[in-house]
Amino acid sequence: MNTQVLAIFGSPRRGGNTDTLMEELLSGISRDGGVDITRIYVSDYNIKPCTGCAFCETSGECNIEDDMKKIYPLLDKSQIIVVSSPVYFYGISAQCKLLVDRCHVFWARKYKLNLPWSEDDEMVRQGFFITAAGTDNPNLFYGGELTIRYLFDCIDILYQGAITVRNVQEKGEVKKNLHALKDAYNKGVELMNYF
Ligand SMILES: Cc1cc2nc3c(=O)[nH]c(=O)nc-3n(C[C@H](O)[C@H](O)[C@H](O)COP(=O)(O)O)c2cc1C
Repeated sequence: MNTQVLAIFGSPRRGGNTDTLMEELLSGISRDGGVDITRIYVSDYNIKPCTGCAFCETSGECNIEDDMKKIYPLLDKSQIIVVSSPVYFYGISAQCKLLVDRCHVFWARKYKLNLPWSEDDEMVRQGFFITAAGTDNPNLFYGGELTIRYLFDCIDILYQGAITVRNVQEKGEVKKNLHALKDAYNKGVELMNYF
């Protein structure tokens, strides 16, 4: 069976720097074939914010009716999950954070209810993060990386690292950074070594 890959594009700027890096990484993942890639552009989805209602903490289900109902099963069935997001105010984009917060239901299943978060508890999942920022300020990537690491940790996805690119403000500027593009491609190839 082909390796199932979920690419979560967290930037609302289509064709921007993190989208470009993601596509390079996906090219690396696809180098030898044998993969099915599902791309989701988070800003195309209707994702409401978590309200902290705690319904999931007793039921193990989220009671908000929106497009997360389409995304939960994709997280469940994927063996490689890559999240990309621009740095927005030292964190991830709001669109991406909506999705992350709605994974509280998985946290509730695991830590409150002692239930498996997934239908396939045995599946080993690898996770990767891609992010880019317009400046070269210190500590640019701490916030975003912590958020994504904690998301992966919560749903037992093994964190395999991140690509972090500085000094790319304008749309597509990262295309001039050949080192970053090559790095993304190589990381994609490496991720397939786990399968
Ligand atoms: C709302 C907003 C907040 C941003 N915050 C930061 C920031 O805190 N630090 C930084 O260096 N760049 C910041 N940027 C710049 C983006 O991170 C940068 O342009 C990035 O390359 C965008 O990636 P994208 O093309 O994938 O959307 C911000 C941009 C926007 C629109």
